[in-house]
This record gives sequence, structure tokens and C-alpha cells, in this order.
Amino acid sequence: MGARIASMALRLFFLLNLVLGLIFWFSDNDAIVPFHMLVGILFVISLWVYSALVGLQTGNVGLVAGSFVLGLLLAIIGMTQASILSSANSPHWIIQVIHLLLAFLAIGFAESVGGRAQRTLKARAA
Ligand code: HEM
Repeated sequence: MGARIASMALRLFFLLNLVLGLIFWFSDNDAIVPFHMLVGILFVISLWVYSALVGLQTGNVGLVAGSFVLGLLLAIIGMTQASILSSANSPHWIIQVIHLLLAFLAIGFAESVGGRAQRTLKARAA
């Protein structure tokens, strides 16, 4: 039950933040950034909560560890991104693409490893 709510929150925050991030990317409207960071942090928290809940139910330690590392990396890159990007000669688009890829990697990892772990548990119970 808790894992289902966390997984819905995860998808919702991801989609919302993807839209906010893309609007910022193409409009350069700075007012969006604090809101994007807030939703981003909520995304990372729901990623960790989801993985911890599924990890506790299934004993899948790799899921918990992988999500923890990916979430932390996404938050660190996200929070330092504005200063990295403003330094002279920085390869802007590389950092932007890494940031976006990490976000997709984080949700993809949680969906595939978490989903598989839950299905294994259900199959065992049946
Ligand atoms: C759901 C996960 C996330 C997605 C899909 C996402 C996506 C994006 C996209 C598409 C952009 C515009 C391109 C760019 O400048 O990189 C962006 C910018 C940004 N993101 Fe995220 N992001 C996510 C999570 C986060 C988190 C967790 C943080 C930090 C707490 C964060 C902080 C930022 C910042 C500060 C920028 C603006 C950087 C600048 O000034 O150019 N993002 N994000």
C-alpha cells in the first residue's frame, strides 16, 4: 500500500519536474528554477521511500543502494548545476544532458528493479 502511493508520487513528481525543467531549458525563465528544485527534491525523497519500502518487503538491497546513489547524484548535480554552468567555458549542454539522463536513469531503475522485485514477491505468495 505504502509502496503504491510512493510509486504514484514518484511518477507524478517526475513528470511535473520534467515539464518544468524543459520549460526552463527552452524559455530561460529563472523564476521556474526554485520550484523545479523543490519538486526535484520531493522526487528524490519519493524515490528513496519507494525503494526502501520495496526493499524491506523483498529484501532487495541492490534496489535500495542503487536508488540511494542515483538520487544523491541527481540532487548534487542539480544543486551545483547553476554554479557549474555559470563558470566560463563550461560545456553547458553536457551537464544539462547528464542531469536529464540521471533523472531518467533514477526513475527507470526504480520502475524496473522495484517492479520486478514486487512481482517476484507476488509470485512467491501465490
Ligand atoms: C525529476 C527529476 C528531474 C528532472 C526530470 C529534471 C530535469 C531538468 C531539465 C530538463 C532541466 C533544464 C536543462 C538543464 O539546465 O539541465 C533542469 C534544470 C535544472 N535542474 Fe533539474 N531535473 C530533475 C531534478 C532536479 C533536482 C533534484 C534538482 C536539485 C535539487 C534540480 C535542479 C535543477 C537546476 C538548478 C536546474 C537549472 C540549471 C541552470 O541554471 O541551468 N533538478 N532539470
